[in-house]
Amino acid sequence: MLELHRKHGPFVRIAHDEVSVGHPDGIRKVLLAPNPKSPWYKLMAFPDWRFQSPLSTIEPKEKNERARWLASGFSTTNVINTENNMDRQISRLKNWIDKYAESGESMELDKFLTYCTFDVLGEVMFSKAFGFLDNGTDIGDTIAWSGMLNMIVTCGGYYRWLLNIILMNPIITTLAATPMGYLGELSQGALQERRDDPSDHPDVVNLWFVNHRKHPDRVSFRDIQGANATVIGAGSDTISCAAQSFIYHLLRHPEKLQKARDEIDYYRNTEGACYGRVISFTDAQKLTYVNACIKEGIRVFTPVQWQLARQAAKGGVTIGDQTFPEGTLLSVNPHVMHHNLEIWGEDADEFRPERWLEEENTSREKYFIPWSAGFASCPGQNVAKMEMPKLIATLLRDYDFRQVNEGQEWSYEATFGLLPYNWPVYVKKTAHYDV
Ligand code: HEM
Repeated sequence: MLELHRKHGPFVRIAHDEVSVGHPDGIRKVLLAPNPKSPWYKLMAFPDWRFQSPLSTIEPKEKNERARWLASGFSTTNVINTENNMDRQISRLKNWIDKYAESGESMELDKFLTYCTFDVLGEVMFSKAFGFLDNGTDIGDTIAWSGMLNMIVTCGGYYRWLLNIILMNPIITTLAATPMGYLGELSQGALQERRDDPSDHPDVVNLWFVNHRKHPDRVSFRDIQGANATVIGAGSDTISCAAQSFIYHLLRHPEKLQKARDEIDYYRNTEGACYGRVISFTDAQKLTYVNACIKEGIRVFTPVQWQLARQAAKGGVTIGDQTFPEGTLLSVNPHVMHHNLEIWGEDADEFRPERWLEEENTSREKYFIPWSAGFASCPGQNVAKMEMPKLIATLLRDYDFRQVNEGQEWSYEATFGLLPYNWPVYVKKTAHYDV
């Protein structure tokens, strides 16, 4: 898509009814305005159409209604309650990395980061990890299948009737397997347990059940199941991708890697911060340069780089010198926006974290849209904004990573999101924080 935009300019017609918008005003006019989402989203009800969720709802008003009761679960205050749950799994990830450091064997860090982000998600959502880090394997090829499912659903959104017949209908999901397999079974089991357990838990579904118990007519158990299923699909590969991008790009810029490490040392030496087995969120937030590197990793390699299409609302949409009639699908791809030369300058494709610390960049913040923007933007961003700096700063402080084949480019799969692979590393332990 980026190549097409660089060749043809801010508007590229990519289907008979869809135009990709790379114009900077696209964010305001397409995403931030109340344009309904494209019908593609209607398939995003898991495991089948009975489980409608905010993601599968395309009209802004209806979507907001559905999403309102979820919001408290993802509020900053509630997400902060989940920090100990997160730490448990990041700590388990460290056990695995330690093992590889001791043995000297090469490690597929990409996989372990994904195991960790899945397990953290289980902890954050319902205080129960999926168990990938217990085993150090992709139990039953679940994650591999989830990647495949992403591909199927991404394409299937255009052929909803077909997927509804062969995979995502109540007969199949009741009698045979749900498309989400083990992830679906474990998370649905956890929700069932919580349904009968009114005690408080430090996690997201805790507040969803509070709402459900107060207003079962407005928030049904099925609403919770549907919303939870979309979260499981959306909240782990994305963070794994961001963490991988951070490490991968810093390995290509040793001077920036050193600068990020020096920042952690500085806080340790001057403020006694950044200690502990897993760095606390309070301390990780202080790391201005490390956080700039995280943002830059996300900008150059955006975890969700799909065409986020909306339908031009009544009266049509005018962007620059083009007017699109009502009903036209207008899609804004975050990756295209993040590499726009007009916005980011001639070095838009370069990994240069310093750009986030420069004065003029504050005006560019509005073009940084990894979470999309407007009524359909990512509700889990508070989780990501807490997990990423903790996880990444802890790995940076405690380990040296070196690619087995230094300088070798990674491979990646791109569907709705991006997931890199094939960049094994050797690990050396550089710091010992075991409590
Ligand atoms: C770096 C991490 C992440 C990135 C870059 C990201 C990005 C996005 C984007 C771009 C969307 C789509 C918007 C659209 O359709 O216009 C989205 C949706 C969503 N994300 Fe995230 N996300 C991340 C992490 C998470 C986490 C940790 C969770 C949950 C804990 C989460 C839950 C969701 C859900 C449930 C949706 C569907 C929203 C809806 O339409 O109601 N995401 N995310």
